[in-house]
Amino acid sequence: DELRRILRTMPKAELHIHIEGSLEPELIFELAQRNGVSLAYPSVEALRRAYDFSDLQSFLDIYYAGASVLLTEQDFYDMTAAYLRRAQADNVRHAEIFFDPQTHTARGVPIGTVIDGIWRACQDSPVNASLILCFLRHLSEEEAIATLEEAIPYRDKFIGVGLDSSEVGHPPEKFARVFERARNLGLHLVAHAGEEGPPAYIESALDVLNVERIDHGVRCLDDPELVQRLAREQMALTVCPLSNVKLRVFDVMGDHSLRRLLDAGLAATVNSDDPAYFGGYVNDNYEAAFEALPLDVSHAHQLARNSFAAAFLEPEQKRAYL
Ligand code: HPA
Ligand code: ZN
Repeated sequence: DELRRILRTMPKAELHIHIEGSLEPELIFELAQRNGVSLAYPSVEALRRAYDFSDLQSFLDIYYAGASVLLTEQDFYDMTAAYLRRAQADNVRHAEIFFDPQTHTARGVPIGTVIDGIWRACQDSPVNASLILCFLRHLSEEEAIATLEEAIPYRDKFIGVGLDSSEVGHPPEKFARVFERARNLGLHLVAHAGEEGPPAYIESALDVLNVERIDHGVRCLDDPELVQRLAREQMALTVCPLSNVKLRVFDVMGDHSLRRLLDAGLAATVNSDDPAYFGGYVNDNYEAAFEALPLDVSHAHQLARNSFAAAFLEPEQKRAYL
């Protein structure tokens, strides 16, 4: 119908996509074969059947296993090029792409192989794309600092740092020093907070890490004072509807808080998180949310505007998109 057509064709920015989460089972098997890596699953179908998650950790275990097939610069290039082709088909004009270097350096892959492969695919795409280096929060702050220092020779190839992986038990304040260092390098700052973790993690991401956006943030609604603050500051939330349902943050899409976030005046955006694992790319996220929730064409345009407004673009670039 008409709303569906508008959702699919409107220009949009995607601000919350983990590139390792765009690795489709078919490409996992192709790269495993190319690199002589053995997988714990006998077939593409068996792997896809294992994508039945109970929470964030049950997803992360299989997501890190999938990433183990990535070894060469060409592997990182091919993965990123495949994502950007899908993004282009969804009318994504600008993408800010997360990558997890520690998932690869821990297996002996040089950080330059990771960054150069992803970055070169971005250069070759008609989609405007920038990179955000994420620290794995289940590892130590010392390891995050070492990773940032290793990445400094590639400083011109990424625009910011983020924080992902297992949230509960790993609060933002654990990473205060590495975020301060990143800030001094002129990098943009974001963090996952309030996906499974409490509203207090959103507050400490803002007050201790000084982040400029909150990734997920959907649990802010548990704290009305925090909601008022996020609205007053127009702090962007990069919401990922299909992810939230697959990881059981909400039981069903009809329970998702996206409409409530918009009604509270929050700068919510719609994103895919890990599209190969959660059942769809960014347009599938828009469609699933709009099908299950009382959202109309004015919300569609609001969400697209929010996505460009929250992007790390120069004001004149934003104006060209808005
Ligand atoms: N949350 C935390 N870590 C992640 C996610 C997520 O949604 N996706 C990939 N790493
Ligand atoms: Zn995420």
